[in-house]
Amino acid sequence: MIRESIVITTDLKNKPHIVPMGIIFEKKKIIISPFVPSKTFLNLKINPYAVINFTDDVNVFVDALLGKKNFKIYPTKRIKGYYLKNTLSYQEVKATRFIKNKIRPKFECKIIKETSNFPFKGFNRAQLSVIEAAILVSRINIISKKKIKKEIKYLKIAIDKTAGKNEKIAWKKLIKKIND
Ligand SMILES: Cc1cc2nc3c(=O)[nH]c(=O)nc-3n(C[C@H](O)[C@H](O)[C@H](O)COP(=O)(O)O)c2cc1C
Repeated sequence: MIRESIVITTDLKNKPHIVPMGIIFEKKKIIISPFVPSKTFLNLKINPYAVINFTDDVNVFVDALLGKKNFKIYPTKRIKGYYLKNTLSYQEVKATRFIKNKIRPKFECKIIKETSNFPFKGFNRAQLSVIEAAILVSRINIISKKKIKKEIKYLKIAIDKTAGKNEKIAWKKLIKKIND
């Protein structure tokens, strides 16, 4: 199963890098799979630790994707890293195995510590629409305009029916990016 999360890696100067990433959860394995080239890949190669954040704040997904840097973060307890202030829960992980691949290598990770800050309050369809639209935006150069238009039209149904203020703000940012 793939869970959409916010991954925070750090470089050797402990500078955080915050990105949305789909984490693969297999029976006992947790796999981070960044494309090459990417900052997340470089950070994990030199410093094999990461924090996987599970948040229902879809603006973090959108803002991180669109390049925002100054998120509210706190230092983690067990590894030298950071977690998002408003994340529901997070896992401090260590990459213990590297599986080489020219396009999309894999870092198999083990959990060092798991922390829960806030309860999960259920699924919201508009949040899922924002995540799907964010994925479209992250692949904007390889997907046809026609496909993007068609999928946005469908995803907007859940936005119109079920979004709160936060989801509407996130959606607007993505639509602006697509139109630009
Ligand atoms: C929901 C979502 C999931 C994503 N999952 C991945 C992923 O698993 N691997 C990846 O390399 N990029 C993924 N991306 C794209 C990255 O967030 C984005 O391209 C990022 O800039 C990675 O490059 P960087 O580490 O150099 O910043 C995802 C984007 C979104 C919106």
